[in-house]
Amino acid sequence: MSEMHRFENDLELSYTRSVARYLLTGGEAPLEEAYELGRKKLTAGGGVLDMVNLHHAAITSILKDDSIGLPPAETIRRACEFLAESMSPFEMTHRAIGEANSALRKLNETLEEEVQRIALALHDDAGQLMVAVHLSLDEAVRDMPAEIQGRMSGVRTLLGLVEDRIRDLSHELHPALLDHLGLIPAIEFLAANVSQRTGLRITVDSTLDVRLPPAMAIAFYRIVQEALTNVRRHAQATRVRIRIGRSGPQLRCTVSDDGVGFDPAKTVASNFTGLGLRGIRERLHALGGKLRIQSAGGRGAKVEATAPLQVVHADSTSARRRSSRGSRRVARHP
Ligand SMILES: Nc1ncnc2c1ncn2[C@@H]1O[C@H](COP(=O)(O)OP(=O)(O)OP(=O)(O)O)[C@@H](O)[C@H]1O
Ligand SMILES: [Mg+2]
Repeated sequence: MSEMHRFENDLELSYTRSVARYLLTGGEAPLEEAYELGRKKLTAGGGVLDMVNLHHAAITSILKDDSIGLPPAETIRRACEFLAESMSPFEMTHRAIGEANSALRKLNETLEEEVQRIALALHDDAGQLMVAVHLSLDEAVRDMPAEIQGRMSGVRTLLGLVEDRIRDLSHELHPALLDHLGLIPAIEFLAANVSQRTGLRITVDSTLDVRLPPAMAIAFYRIVQEALTNVRRHAQATRVRIRIGRSGPQLRCTVSDDGVGFDPAKTVASNFTGLGLRGIRERLHALGGKLRIQSAGGRGAKVEATAPLQVVHADSTSARRRSSRGSRRVARHP
């Protein structure tokens, strides 16, 4: 008999003995055993349904023998009490998961506020400094010979490019589009910028016809942002396809590339230091969703994020109108 089978058998025997004792005598001691047995089952990876099956098997075998001599209503009451006690470790774990998720959501909100602060600082402070640099440059070259003034116009053009890049980055960090128009326009903007910077051909296909609550929209925006950053840094890809839509009651978003691919199992090894995929996973957990990665060496990678779809109803008509554009290529490079 395998170790696992022995464990299951012992647990079933102990459970049956304890529940029989409780039916016969009542009292605290069997209930403490019920709690302990539930905890053991939980630690061994068992679920709520396993516990119910265990209980069912125990009660069936006890009631074959009618020596208990209790009225049926009392038997049922005591059996239920015992079951409830054995389930309480599951209930506590369930609550702890809820608390951890809400702590994670709060952490994400704090991080978002910080990102917003940095985005605004980048936009306003760096923007102002660039204006000051332009003005000082104008002043410095005003009395210089025409030839030097000509050369300075090249510097001005470069400064203009720096200014544009800073503005784009600040908008990518916290896109006003996300607040005003929703997830899809914000992702199209991000994709267009990344495409322009990197030469990647990126398409965005959306069939999303509802407006998402801000926490969900920002989470999926960050997920796509990290997935695109990974493609740019690791994939050596030429094309990326972003797809967003419903899949039953879920919101589903995939980012697929045609790059070198990777072994997803290695990235979850404990000594792996990358934070990006872990961050995606945690954001999704906080929304009750999950991450799946499909990749085989040399044949690209597909990052798939799903989470239960939450919808903002008040604004859904205008959101539908806006997102009815469907599939569209946001940028094309030769
Ligand atoms: N699209 C992709 N193509 C090829 N490899 C990828 C792709 N996405 C992720 N990877 C691989 O998975 C690893 C983990 O990605 P992850 O985003 O978690 O970390 P990172 O990008 O290395 O670092 P960080 O995101 O913390 O800056 C990467 O180092 C890379 O090897
Ligand atoms: Mg990364």
